[in-house]
Amino acid sequence: MAESNSFPQKKPTSRAGLRRATILFCAAFLALLFTACEKTAEKPVLRMVCNANFPPYELVMDGKIAGIDPDIIREICDRNGYELEIENMPFGAIIAAVQTGKADVAASGITVTEERKTKINFTDPYVNASQRILIRRETTDFKLENLKHNPVSVQEGTTGDMFVKEHYREPERYKNVPEVIQALKTKKVYAAVVDQEPAEVEAAKNPDLLLLPEPLTSEEYAFAISKERPDLLQKFNVTLRQMQADGTLAKIKADGKIKYAGDKSATVEAGFWEKLKIDFRLNFIDGKRYRYLLDGFGITMLVTVFSILTGLFLGFLVAVTRSTHDLTGKYSFPDAVCKIYLTIIRGTPVVIQLLIIYFVIFGSFNVNKIIVAITAFGINSGAYTAEIIRAGIMSLDRGQIEAGRSLGLSYRLTMMRIILPQALKNVLPALGNEFIVLLKETSVAGFIALEDLTKGGDIIRSQTYNAFLPLVAVAVIYLVVVMFFSALLRKMEAKLQKNR
Ligand code: ARG
Repeated sequence: MAESNSFPQKKPTSRAGLRRATILFCAAFLALLFTACEKTAEKPVLRMVCNANFPPYELVMDGKIAGIDPDIIREICDRNGYELEIENMPFGAIIAAVQTGKADVAASGITVTEERKTKINFTDPYVNASQRILIRRETTDFKLENLKHNPVSVQEGTTGDMFVKEHYREPERYKNVPEVIQALKTKKVYAAVVDQEPAEVEAAKNPDLLLLPEPLTSEEYAFAISKERPDLLQKFNVTLRQMQADGTLAKIKADGKIKYAGDKSATVEAGFWEKLKIDFRLNFIDGKRYRYLLDGFGITMLVTVFSILTGLFLGFLVAVTRSTHDLTGKYSFPDAVCKIYLTIIRGTPVVIQLLIIYFVIFGSFNVNKIIVAITAFGINSGAYTAEIIRAGIMSLDRGQIEAGRSLGLSYRLTMMRIILPQALKNVLPALGNEFIVLLKETSVAGFIALEDLTKGGDIIRSQTYNAFLPLVAVAVIYLVVVMFFSALLRKMEAKLQKNR
């Protein structure tokens, strides 16, 4: 990045240099787009989504999404000649993903409800389920009516969430079941409400928890398919009926209950350092979990670097347009467009922009998430970069322009040769700061289920039920990168100062 041609170091930016940088940038972006869109399978692909923190139905095992739901869907795919692709996302985003065509089917222990039926179609049900209460064993005086006055944790958007809200009180909503359990274990809540089988898995893993025998609800799980795909629904139902008749369905469920009960988290009585060592191994070494951080780091850097470049490119355009308008009165229309862009982008949160680009603008295309993230963060950063560069331009003495013009340079050349290089030199610290902010801001990429560094830590956390080490590790990695960036910028500034 430091070597990028997009802003000057020694020599003032020449027009050819800028053009070369633009071409280079566009080429790199296109190359990324092509590799991202490349498909290898000849069989038609069936894209399934789930929230893989729900053993035995779906979980991440050895870095892959496994569970009863994937097993059933894989069998359905095999019988119908599909290639299966599985994606992990927050439960709250799953129905929308199917509705908007981002996914073909959602299989995530989804309970059939009337409300959901208005958005998507359900296949025939394949499991009977219920909501159950988990408490800490030490809570010996548990009463149902206590749920009205005490906090209860649930997974956001689930039927447990709806049930508690309707019958007791507003629940405490967490993104996934491990966090629901962690809240209970760490006494943040009085009880947790979770689907029966996942609750059984948790109770078996955590001897300090107790699963109450009375079911709160009676539910059925089914797969969700878009209302626009009646053909697919038909195929699923036919195949499900076959699998029911030939015993495959029962077998997958019975095997899955044993296979996917999850690894028991170690409950050791040990000293601080001993425990830290054990936790370190659990979080980073076992199952090669450090890979989530490594891969996530790669994605974070990729997204950051390309977003910075996109932002610089947009920022330049907007800043030059706006200051040209301010200085010469030309370009009224482009100036108005730029103003609208700045107002909208700086007036709304980046997460919302990211979600809009992903679910609305790219709603019905299947675009690689990295591209989506780069687009969103690039457009966002462009607005801030534009204002920084513009401030730099406007801070220069107007006499500079007149000087350039009186030397016989055109307005454009004056801008390129005289104004921009000085402006950039002046705003370099502010630009550097923008890059650092951007790096950290990409940590919301997990909202579109992109597995960046932050998400990598989250995945580890949800597998090991350990908050401390994964979160601290992620924080340290960001910190180191930011410190590295800052040092680099300081060096560049010093060099510019010397070359004055
Ligand atoms: N059965 C509940 C529902 O449909 C919870 C499902 C949660 N599934 C998951 N994979 N986390 O609302």
